[in-house]
Amino acid sequence: MKVVPAQPAALRLEGVSMSFPDGTRAVHELSFEVHRGEFVTIIGPSGCGKSTVLRLASGLLHGATGNVVVAEDNLGYVFQDPTLLGWRTVQRNVELFAELRRMPRAERVRRGTEALNLVGLAGVAHRYPRQLSAGMRMRVSLARSLALRPQLFLFDEPFGALDEITRERLNEEVLGLFESERFAALFVTHSIYEAVYLSSRVLVMSARPGPLVATFEVPFEYPRPGSLRFDARFTALAGQLSEALREAHA
Ligand SMILES: Nc1ncnc2c1ncn2[C@@H]1O[C@H](COP(=O)(O)OP(=O)(O)OP(=O)(O)O)[C@@H](O)[C@H]1O
Ligand SMILES: [Mg+2]
Repeated sequence: MKVVPAQPAALRLEGVSMSFPDGTRAVHELSFEVHRGEFVTIIGPSGCGKSTVLRLASGLLHGATGNVVVAEDNLGYVFQDPTLLGWRTVQRNVELFAELRRMPRAERVRRGTEALNLVGLAGVAHRYPRQLSAGMRMRVSLARSLALRPQLFLFDEPFGALDEITRERLNEEVLGLFESERFAALFVTHSIYEAVYLSSRVLVMSARPGPLVATFEVPFEYPRPGSLRFDARFTALAGQLSEALREAHA
């Protein structure tokens, strides 16, 4: 029998607690792992510490106790707001993170073009952000991180402000990217359906900073068709998640 060494987790949190200088306790004794090829979603009431967890994982925020171990140095972060630069074209916005990492010009143009193709925006590369719809701007933001070809991908409610149909389309795009690239994903959302559709595991955080209220393994194989959302097993799991979320709000 061939023994395959276990891959270290792309991201591991061990007993992580975070208190801000004003005394606000945002995260308490949180532990979980995300491996390559796993799509882990955090869901929980507003203010329970979800964005704080992402900021800790990204290294943008310091001061937590416990261990945050990131095994991948190639990290993508899609913020809730697209945060595009208005004076740069779409193409130049998509190249921004690569440029900040001092990637040679030819390589970053190639990757930027490829990322824009992946999110279906090749046709608007020379436009400016103000000439795009909100959904298109979000796609540009996604492409900007994709150009880095991240092994660990953090998403903070990226589609929260969009209409349901656009959100579903972008969910399918993210899923397609995940199915082909198999990065490790840590995703935050308030949508139960989005959580079940995308994830291999869903973590429910509590309103009180505390350990997780519940963890759900999502048993559906990838690739997942859009029609999965109408499957009775999908609806049943969404119902259970909704119950757990109600408890989390208590
Ligand atoms: N820099 C800060 N200083 C003090 N308190 C903070 C700071 N940043 C966040 N908090 C507090 O920490 C808690 C968790 O905030 P966080 O942004 O992580 O919540 P969240 O779960 O992402 O909420 P939402 O779903 O509304 O985005 C909140 O009570 C918030 O007010
Ligand atoms: Mg947040």
